[in-house]
Amino acid sequence: MKFFIDTANLDQITEAQNLGILDGVTTNPSLMAKEGITGNSNIFNHYKKICEIVDGDVSAEVISTEFNGMVEEGNHLSKISDQIVVKIPMTKNGVKALKYFSNNNIKTNCTLIFSPGQALLAAKAGADYVSPFIGRLDDITSDGLSLISEIRQVFDNYNFKTEILSASIRHNMHIIDCAKIGSDVVTAPLSSIVGLLNHPLTDSGLKKFLDDHKKGN
Ligand code: E4P
Repeated sequence: MKFFIDTANLDQITEAQNLGILDGVTTNPSLMAKEGITGNSNIFNHYKKICEIVDGDVSAEVISTEFNGMVEEGNHLSKISDQIVVKIPMTKNGVKALKYFSNNNIKTNCTLIFSPGQALLAAKAGADYVSPFIGRLDDITSDGLSLISEIRQVFDNYNFKTEILSASIRHNMHIIDCAKIGSDVVTAPLSSIVGLLNHPLTDSGLKKFLDDHKKGN
């Protein structure tokens, strides 16, 4: 399973990259705003910086909701680097844009996926990734992980190449459950990724090893 980090924070991206487990980055307009990155040229330059830090795919979201605008923005963003994956919302115009970019060999990530039908449409249109939002479904007392299972089944039935990029991760167990289901990718905050490191038996076991080593010296 690939690990993407879900942030526009350069320090956190660098930390995850240095850990040696990072396969890519996802951002969205809210994450950009959280870092105080505003204005089209600043956002464009920020994507450049992210691409310089990581080796893998970097999702860059379009703002336009019109087909022509999505195409224009996506073409512009894709010139930054081969790493750029144009992130397109799940709308009728979005599906048309997915098809356009697929025909033009530009990678895409279809975002705001909340049903298997939406994922199926995005896959049919040639999306490289679909991003089902687990946490936001859980937030409304729905079952985010069931959506991942359903999409897995649909994609496996027809051998779709589109990768399931589980998003809106809220905690460590979401990552583990996604891995069990067979999600291709998980995008998570740094805290959830490094949270996987922790186990009290590891801490107490290491302490005992080091204490015993001291006694023997
Ligand atoms: C990533 O591609 C999504 O935009 C992100 O995971 C959404 O997460 P949120 O529901 O915590 O905003």
